Amino acid sequence: MKFEFDGEKYKQASGQQKAWGKTLISELQLRGDERILDLGCGHGALTAELAALVPDGAVLGIDGSESMIETARKDHAGVNLRFELLDIDAMDFESQFDVVFSNATLHWIKDHSKLLVNVFKSLNNSGAARFQFAGEGNCSNLIRILREVMSEGDYTGYFDEFDWPWFMPSVEQYRALLDEASFAEKKVWGENADRYFESIEAMVRWIDQPSLVPFLPCVAGTDKQRFRDIVVERMIEETVQDDGTCFETFRRINVFARK
Ligand SMILES: C[S@@+](CC[C@H](N)C(=O)[O-])C[C@H]1O[C@@H](n2cnc3c(N)ncnc32)[C@H](O)[C@@H]1O
Repeated sequence: MKFEFDGEKYKQASGQQKAWGKTLISELQLRGDERILDLGCGHGALTAELAALVPDGAVLGIDGSESMIETARKDHAGVNLRFELLDIDAMDFESQFDVVFSNATLHWIKDHSKLLVNVFKSLNNSGAARFQFAGEGNCSNLIRILREVMSEGDYTGYFDEFDWPWFMPSVEQYRALLDEASFAEKKVWGENADRYFESIEAMVRWIDQPSLVPFLPCVAGTDKQRFRDIVVERMIEETVQDDGTCFETFRRINVFARK
């Protein structure tokens, strides 16, 4: 896992992710005895909601960020709930889960062919996976501005070796990946979740955590704060509306797959 998030800050900045996750959970129609794996559980709020819905089952949340796992363990306890510090790329479970769930995370994973093989392996016979993550066209303002600032004279040298952190495929691209996977039932669809942040402050919280996390470690000294401030300034210029809200595109990929 390459990036370190801040669990407490993410908790304050993740209202939108939580709302998406709640919708996803409500669609699962759980019986109450399932064993569930939550990939990229973050600070654990959704993982705990899943655990409450399966009193006779068990939920394991995995995340690669120490701070996220620390916050999750501090905030949520339950006999059927566990959190483990584990990189999704390194997961190695075998027929252990009825459901593999993931909300707002898998655009951080670059190799989805490997991911789908690992998810398939981790499921019981007839177990199901349900993911939602960022797809093509997601955060178009932020991504344009990041690319712009990264290529400007003051910063370009910092990003020579930079590995772009996100995989945001089109529905067609993802369908092709899913076609290669061994699931018996598979479905992928896009979702337009464009939104207005209620205020500049709310958007800036989201820019700081999690969006800028992969970029700032590349920039040294006082340039780091300047880089952050320029991105924030341009985002405000580009997205603020007359009523003080800020618009950004949020395009999502939804996946359902049954073994
Ligand atoms: C935007 S947060 C989503 C958290 C939670 N699922 C939610 O909906 O609030 C993305 C999470 O993915 C985790 N993550 C990103 N790449 C990861 C990886 N390779 N392995 C494990 N966790 C990863 C991050 O640490 C972060 O907690």
